[in-house]
Amino acid sequence: MASASGDQATRLYHPNPELQKNAHVKSIEDYKKLYDQSINEPEVFWSKIAEQFYFKTPPTEGKFLEYNFNVNDGPVFVKWFQGATTNVCYNVLDRHVENGLGDRIAFYWEGNDPDDSSKVTYGQLLKGVCKFANVLKQHGVKKGDRVAIYMPMIPELVIAMLACARIGAMHSIVFGGFSSDSLSGRMLDAKSSILITADGVYRGTKLVNLKQISDEAVTLCKKQDFTVEKVFVVRHLGSAEASSNGDRSSPVAKRPCYSLTTDFHEGRDVWWHDVMEGASDKCEPVWLDAEDPLFMLYTSGSTGTPKGVVHSQMGYLLYAATTFKYSFDHHKDDIYWCTADIGWITGHTYVCYGPMANGATSVMFEGAPLYPDESRCWQIVDKYNVSILYTAPTLIRTLMKYGEAPVKKYSRKSLRVLATVGEPINPEAWLFYYNVIGDARCSISDTFWQTETGGHTLTPLPGATPMKPGSATFPFFGIAPAVVNEKGEELEGVCEGYLVFKQPWPGVMRTVYGDHERYESTYFRQFPGYYKTGDGCKRDEDGYYWITGRIDDMFNVSGHLLSTAEIESSLIEHSKIAEAAAVAYPHPTKGEACYAFVTLIEGAEFNDKLILELKKQVRSKIGPFAAPEVIHNAPGLPKTRSGKIMRRVLRKIAVNDHDLGDVSTMADSTVVDILFENRPKELRA
Ligand code: WTA
Repeated sequence: MASASGDQATRLYHPNPELQKNAHVKSIEDYKKLYDQSINEPEVFWSKIAEQFYFKTPPTEGKFLEYNFNVNDGPVFVKWFQGATTNVCYNVLDRHVENGLGDRIAFYWEGNDPDDSSKVTYGQLLKGVCKFANVLKQHGVKKGDRVAIYMPMIPELVIAMLACARIGAMHSIVFGGFSSDSLSGRMLDAKSSILITADGVYRGTKLVNLKQISDEAVTLCKKQDFTVEKVFVVRHLGSAEASSNGDRSSPVAKRPCYSLTTDFHEGRDVWWHDVMEGASDKCEPVWLDAEDPLFMLYTSGSTGTPKGVVHSQMGYLLYAATTFKYSFDHHKDDIYWCTADIGWITGHTYVCYGPMANGATSVMFEGAPLYPDESRCWQIVDKYNVSILYTAPTLIRTLMKYGEAPVKKYSRKSLRVLATVGEPINPEAWLFYYNVIGDARCSISDTFWQTETGGHTLTPLPGATPMKPGSATFPFFGIAPAVVNEKGEELEGVCEGYLVFKQPWPGVMRTVYGDHERYESTYFRQFPGYYKTGDGCKRDEDGYYWITGRIDDMFNVSGHLLSTAEIESSLIEHSKIAEAAAVAYPHPTKGEACYAFVTLIEGAEFNDKLILELKKQVRSKIGPFAAPEVIHNAPGLPKTRSGKIMRRVLRKIAVNDHDLGDVSTMADSTVVDILFENRPKELRA
């Protein structure tokens, strides 16, 4: 990748004075005042914010925050607002409708095809949510149950998740790009006997048959003696019959249609529209303790299976609402668009809960950003007058390949704040975002956070923070970052080390579903007293934080976090593979991609057919986005004397860097020469 010209990449970018004038936080001094209060007097800070929300019963006096972050002092726990009862669904819907905002548009829905769109108000959503909450109740779903959701980006997804929240059931959303194996694994772990899905969805020209994948997942669950009782199916694409009967008033009839390729299982599968028809649109929310779980969401773990990250009611809601308001400088007339899928944490917090807690009007987009052409994003921005855009560096880099013309085809004059998430943004992409997409007028919020943190932890504030391309700048309110060394000692001033957080914020995850020990060992054991992010970080002379990437065996493909262990275990399942090791290597648009070394069993032949089979294997075990970019034939792997694979060395081989550093612990260094010699043909340019 070409490097950004020095000056541009290293200078400070001050917020546009126009934007500053009306911003919630207008200067870096104002930010510092608020920040100091959030750290030194968290009760004052968060209680004031909590006043805007509805508690059925208020928090108990003196029980504002209790926690232990130090594994050596006993179990790790975090409890905010104990004694309070509330309901998140009530706070993001009823509260607005009761305040007279029932007719405000919650979502402009933009379909895959540019002429397929609709809108839904807060009032309409409330009715839909109450109806579906009643449906769930009729089917025996109650507080604490886990409901799996595998859906495209359509309003019914928001209805399904908020219906769960209304009755205190935990939603466990699985991104629609995961395979049936991944879906079933998550359903088994969470014991989700209810699944909500849709017939299918088009992303660009590609059809994803969600119902068929769901059926396969249900069968896989059955093989493990787990019965999925009910599958609710939204008719989104419609069937051949639906469009051939000439009913053009039905939105589904306008979409490209197809016939379901799998059977409808009587007694188990039910159409969403059938059950919704007779349901009442009134449903009293279930009042829940502030610390009851709201949802779980799986994220990759550096060892073993994905972890079900559990978030709480009130803490998560307050944190989602507050980060949304300040990091994006959201005001009531803004039109906000987050391109993330709800299946990821970014979609949970910044498509659903954060915006809705603020009564925001958002764009929800089901399609693919390059379909039907590479100016689709800007056509959408102009169509809805989007003022705040939230996306990922991988998309910016992809768009950069097409140059400025597709961007300049549309005015984008409504844009005010541009935000990114998912991986470090390289200065080239930052500058394209700032100069070309934002016409050097908008603030950029590079938001660093994780599934586990619930919301932004490091981010600029659009009206306050002078920006540096590639830096997530400073901590959000309530976040106390530190950079520590291997021994867990805090480093001062300019430094590089592990990024940790010193005290809990309301949105921090509370546990790993069904495995509190894993919560403690993953996040709290290495550095007792701190939450460990797993990311490396630098702090510069101005106190700016720069994320340098994961320091564990995890990597980020197009902003999706994957673990090497997950990929390796799916490769090893192939009958011809004896051993596998996956590492990340730099990729021009995806940020990082997966580079897999495989050792074959005796007598097996390494050829193109096997490469295809292995890629397919990972696609079907995890999902298409996880497929390795490169498969490297490795007769042997570099290992320590104790047999641990030296991934550090493999990362060097992947980029053809012969400077291996200290390899004195390697058992047999001859394997390295062989690996350099048989680097895949396509990489030997
Ligand atoms: C990475 C996504 C640098 C990081 C919200 C983190 C980032 C992981 C940024 C979490 C950023 C996310 N700059 N790196 N602005 N945002 N990351 O759980 O490695 O899918 O630990 O949450 O993404 O990924 P996750």
